[in-house]
Amino acid sequence: MKGLILSGGKGTRLQPLTYTSAKQLIPVANRPVLFRVLDTLVAAGITDIGIVTGDTATEIRAAVGDGARWNATITYIPQPAPLGLAHAVKISQDYLKDERFIMFLGDNVIQGGLAPLLREFATSDYNAQIVLTRVAEPQHYGVAELKDGRIVRLIEKPQTPPSNLALVGIYMFDSHIFEAVNAIQPSHRGELEITDAIQYLIEKGYHVHPYIHEGWWIDTGKPGDMIEANSKVLEELEPVVEGYVDRNSRLEGKVTIEKGAEIVNSRVRGPAIIGEDTRIINAYIGPFTSIYHHCLIESSEIEHSIILEYSQIVDIPQRIEDSLIGRHVTLMRSPIKPKAYKLTLGDHSQVGIL
Ligand code: G1P
Repeated sequence: MKGLILSGGKGTRLQPLTYTSAKQLIPVANRPVLFRVLDTLVAAGITDIGIVTGDTATEIRAAVGDGARWNATITYIPQPAPLGLAHAVKISQDYLKDERFIMFLGDNVIQGGLAPLLREFATSDYNAQIVLTRVAEPQHYGVAELKDGRIVRLIEKPQTPPSNLALVGIYMFDSHIFEAVNAIQPSHRGELEITDAIQYLIEKGYHVHPYIHEGWWIDTGKPGDMIEANSKVLEELEPVVEGYVDRNSRLEGKVTIEKGAEIVNSRVRGPAIIGEDTRIINAYIGPFTSIYHHCLIESSEIEHSIILEYSQIVDIPQRIEDSLIGRHVTLMRSPIKPKAYKLTLGDHSQVGIL
């Protein structure tokens, strides 16, 4: 079986971070979401993987390379315009050929491995297998209507959802999917929808099997989703301390300190992760926080947040919470008169001040 990861998209809801990087490369628990997708596929025995890229192709290629780090072989498939998930399948036909494959959205984070699910599909005669999960707001997703355990209908973002079973961004297909993606028409948003292609398979009598995922699943489109995915992954991370923790510091609960990190006169309450060569000095790092590599957090308190590489937070008197802070950001007190906020913020930045 081959793997196909979709890693295009502009990530507009994650601006300004996505002005300088692909959304799939934002880390949760200090590992880019796309790397976690690759980890999951490789752990399930899939090493021949195609990545469909868009405007951010250069960054994705620079980060993933030829896949040697995963003992995988990566083939890049450029999608000239974001014309939909079914369009991505269409342009991947030369790469996929007649093999069964799993398609995974590169910005999705899911609990647990996929090995049992893939084994089920690989040894079955299903033409397709889709993953469904119960969600609170199904109108934002592709939604399935089931009857006696079989799929009757799939609809993309219905105004009146027939159930709360959403399509998770993980799909398994055999080569009949090419017949479907070539037959369907673009939706009202101008995209070839994978949901419509699967609906086509159902109407033609092909066997589309539903699998209901009971664990958590997060589609990381917005800052709040990133922070939630970060929290879930941190909760499950096995803690490892490889950095330096001085005698005046305390680690509580599940705390990972990566190589070269230094914790000085500070308290880190897990689940949390402190990245390589990051320094935490006279500070408090609270639960559900990931600080990436080469940061400095000094005389400040941070909780339930993600801080990206090379950022510095120094002498901030109020606790920082629910925040997603980008790369090379400096946040510090400004003692120079006049006493005022002095801000250099990128477009689409959001700042909440006390
Ligand atoms: C896409 C699919 C939708 C699915 C969702 C999962 O939506 O079209 O059916 O439920 O991914 O993340 P999009 O992210 O393109 O709005």
